[in-house]
Amino acid sequence: MAMPHNGKKSRIEGFYRMQRSERLARLATAAGIREGEVAALLDPNPLPFEKANHMVENAIGVVGLPLGVGLNFLINGREYLVPMAVEEASVVAAASHAARLVRDSGGFVAEADPPVMIAQIQLVKVPDMDAAVRRITAATPQLLASANAVHPNMVKRGGGARAIEVRPLLDTACGPMLVVHLLVEVGDAMGANAVNTIAEALAPSLEELTAGQVRLRILSNLADERLARATARIEMRLLRSGTLSGREVSERVVEAWAFAAADPYRAATHNKGIMNGIDAVAIATGNDWRGIEAGAHAYAARNGRYTSLSEWRIEEDRLVGTIELPLAVGTVGGNLECNPRIRFGLHLLGVSSARELAGVMAAVGLGQNFAAMRALVTHGIQRGHMSLHARGLAVAAGAPEDLVEQVVKQLLASGEIKLSKAREIVQSVQLGA
Ligand code: MEV
Repeated sequence: MAMPHNGKKSRIEGFYRMQRSERLARLATAAGIREGEVAALLDPNPLPFEKANHMVENAIGVVGLPLGVGLNFLINGREYLVPMAVEEASVVAAASHAARLVRDSGGFVAEADPPVMIAQIQLVKVPDMDAAVRRITAATPQLLASANAVHPNMVKRGGGARAIEVRPLLDTACGPMLVVHLLVEVGDAMGANAVNTIAEALAPSLEELTAGQVRLRILSNLADERLARATARIEMRLLRSGTLSGREVSERVVEAWAFAAADPYRAATHNKGIMNGIDAVAIATGNDWRGIEAGAHAYAARNGRYTSLSEWRIEEDRLVGTIELPLAVGTVGGNLECNPRIRFGLHLLGVSSARELAGVMAAVGLGQNFAAMRALVTHGIQRGHMSLHARGLAVAAGAPEDLVEQVVKQLLASGEIKLSKAREIVQSVQLGA
């Protein structure tokens, strides 16, 4: 098994049973986080209203979301403590459990392409398509130079415009149009602002070259020049469940995947499970999860039929899963800088580039996918969901901290996982306490 080489530990036994203060202390040790940084989490105000007021129009407040830590992640021999912001019970626990099994089998292998974003420039009323394509192709060096002149700092940091692709769309509802793709390596930012600015700057030259009229100038969220991939090779012996052998569970997982691969109705849910993990990391690290979602689902339909983003197969004594999807994410940018919780999340995760972040997110998505399928093909999804749901209901029913466990136990035993029942139990427990 690969040995972690970053000195961090992502396996923290009994984390879920600890008090918050102990959890934070253990994280501080495990991730080398200083006390002052933990203060960002302890501040009851996640984002000062003054900042929120500058971020959106008509601001009236700030919404809270639980922030958990995905444990046990070993990816490319490195340990990762994964910040996950999500409202759905069991996502963090499921990711951590899957990561434990993958870890015990050697860990995830993950990678991502260089961060190249695509900007699209739409040209309409082009009088001669062939001539326009020829002129743009011939002018590519000048166009790339003009693009780079817009963001000299990006070029200094090793990024910059890489290529121009011309795509005539001959049969649209509004007749033929010419679409120019500009490929820009954006460094550690998500890159939306950079490519949108460049696309706007190039528009007049493209109008001149084509004698057409520019309309849209905007990035594509189908960021398929920026794919991330992950693989997990889980030892089947670790997957035994009840009376089922590890091989039987693995075969059922492969059947579950085959269902998703063949049927868009199932694929949508299967991929939603993947995105449960990816979005949670995206939110905790200040990334644009709507863009990521759009890219993921468009990629899942790239061959004309919507299908699974992951693939699962059996290889000798292992269940092997792979995933590939576009992940346009950043580790720098204004949004990230001004939110102390996001800074904390990024520090906890400890990635040094957007590319590394994309690889980690692909691994989390794959782990989340495996956890969901494993539950679905064995005891079903509701068991885990219900015990966590019961906890939420106990709290909502007003159970004081020291009675939550007792109320949850009674609620589960009652078989009526409802708020009214939780209230009834809280009352009787309090009377008896
Ligand atoms: C629930 O949030 C996600 C699942 O539906 C995913 C799946 O069905 O694979 C459990």
